[in-house]
Amino acid sequence: MDNITQNKKRVLSAIQPSGMLTLGNYLGALKNWVNMQDEFDCLYAVADLHAITVRQEPSKLRQQIYSTCALLLALGINPENSVMFVQSHVAAHSQLSWLLSCYTQFGELSRMTQFKDKSAKHADNVNVGLFSYPVLMAADILLYQPDLVPVGADQKQHLEIARDIAGRFNSIYGDVFKIPDPYIAKTGAKIMSLQDPTKKMSKSDENLNSWVAILDTPDDIMRKFKRAVTDSEAKVCIGEEKLGINNLIGIYSCITGKTAEEIENEFYGKGYGDFKTAVGESVVEALRPVRENYQTFIADKKQLEDIYKAGAEKAEYYARRTLSKAMKKIGFVL
Ligand code: TYM
Repeated sequence: MDNITQNKKRVLSAIQPSGMLTLGNYLGALKNWVNMQDEFDCLYAVADLHAITVRQEPSKLRQQIYSTCALLLALGINPENSVMFVQSHVAAHSQLSWLLSCYTQFGELSRMTQFKDKSAKHADNVNVGLFSYPVLMAADILLYQPDLVPVGADQKQHLEIARDIAGRFNSIYGDVFKIPDPYIAKTGAKIMSLQDPTKKMSKSDENLNSWVAILDTPDDIMRKFKRAVTDSEAKVCIGEEKLGINNLIGIYSCITGKTAEEIENEFYGKGYGDFKTAVGESVVEALRPVRENYQTFIADKKQLEDIYKAGAEKAEYYARRTLSKAMKKIGFVL
């Protein structure tokens, strides 16, 4: 298991292959995934099992799994250092999920805000998977005994329930699971819609101008930023009533590494037009190499398959160990 060294801290995270990945996914999570690779031993999964909690078209889902793997590589996930795999290829995720569901209360799952939102949005398909989604996510995490889980702010509640489930299990059976900490960066943890900055930027938003895809063309990116909703004050600064500008400052800060104060000084006396152009251009330049690398990775399916299969083999090793330990503790015969 050469990429997991045991002496570094361990990181695990996952992303759903449902549709195009957004600038929110990039700044809230994926950028950190890439940066954490030097310091930590990292495992990154494409959460295909989670994706079917809402109806997926088979050929599209297949395509999106490939495309998400290619995009992770294009962003800089290095399979020499990190383990990249597809969740459904490691059966232990589903198996531990069942075990953990017997240590999770109906009431605590009913309180999950994502469940409430998604069941309102997909009222014709409020399936049990949508309800037990956080238990599968807890299994994804706990199987690998990670120290840190890098996610955007919207996943915080799911991380908390994973910690609660682990704590409950450990209190009955001893130290089976490590209790992981969320890693939620200060900037970028919640990138908002460009059209309605009270809402999170999301690929499922029907208003296509509200979100930027990592693979959008430079023209599309510029157009979306130029149309971004702001306010009538025409002053680039952080403000309670300035959600649109706050969001653009956050995006620009995340990409350039400048603080909000530096950004306010840079645009002192300038209009929103100049500011939006600068934010758009910074995003275009940050994503340009990703778009180019993506074309190379997606064109070579064999290489992609080799990478995710090798990843699953490594992940399996860790996952099995934890699963067996949990099963023995419960009293199953192995
Ligand atoms: P998913 O696929 O919706 O999103 C992947 C990651 O992107 C972050 N994110 C954002 N961050 C900032 N601003 C936004 N607008 C934004 N939109 C998305 C998410 O917080 C997430 O970190 N349930 C998870 C996938 C998952 C998982 C796991 C994560 C399954 N198993 C185990 C961690 C550990 C999800 O649906 O993320």
